[in-house]
Amino acid sequence: MQVIVAKDYDELSRWAAEAVAAQILEKPDSVLGLATGGTPLGMYRELKRMHQEGKLDLARVKTFNLDEYIGLPADHPESYHHYMQENFFRHVNLPADQAHVPDGTAGDLAVECQRYEEMIQAAGSIDLQVLGIGANGHIGFNEPGTEFGAVTHVLSLDPRTIKANARFFGSEDQVPRQAISMGIKTIMKSRKIILLASGTDKAEAIMRTVTGPVTVDMPASILQLHPNVTLLVDKAAAAFLKLDGGQMSVNC
Ligand code: PGA
Repeated sequence: MQVIVAKDYDELSRWAAEAVAAQILEKPDSVLGLATGGTPLGMYRELKRMHQEGKLDLARVKTFNLDEYIGLPADHPESYHHYMQENFFRHVNLPADQAHVPDGTAGDLAVECQRYEEMIQAAGSIDLQVLGIGANGHIGFNEPGTEFGAVTHVLSLDPRTIKANARFFGSEDQVPRQAISMGIKTIMKSRKIILLASGTDKAEAIMRTVTGPVTVDMPASILQLHPNVTLLVDKAAAAFLKLDGGQMSVNC
């Protein structure tokens, strides 16, 4: 696991976009795993700029988002379908049928989970997965306590996640209680992973991800067992790490 510390959120966002762009240059038909939330917004802004400047071609890329709320239709302003459309998809040349987000309104959610997981595996699994992290250590919506062996599944949001995401909905009452998420096993099959974290409220989770025991109580700690993970964090999120010149390599 490698940890790279950016001086601020803008630098972190640029580095994340460069990592995605490098992946696509190296393999134009890459399969990307994408995240939502506040943290990757700067990365999407940079990717949009690169595309507008003619430096990024997504014509052959496939994308799979990590998760979606149960019960929110695609046009709901807080659905992750809508988020992706507004912040990324509509600004770039990614063909609509190559961009995938789980359907949180599916009549049979178990069937939808299986369909989504099979689509990822049929695409050859994910080349580069972008992750955020919750203050409770969740990746995707895999909350503390989630089995490491889970593939795409339905889960209940942790009270800390409901509280954190209330800022997008206006109040806690309006935050959906359940979501579909790629499982930890799905995520761990990705060939390369970058995890982005910004701000002091992520500092403890980052420290436990890097140096703590691998435990379902801190889902991101499983990343210690993945062969190609880079944590891109800003100084605030790195506050509890002992760093050598802004970089840290941890052999797990
Ligand atoms: P955030 O969410 O980027 O909005 O902090 C990250 C997450 O919950 O995974």
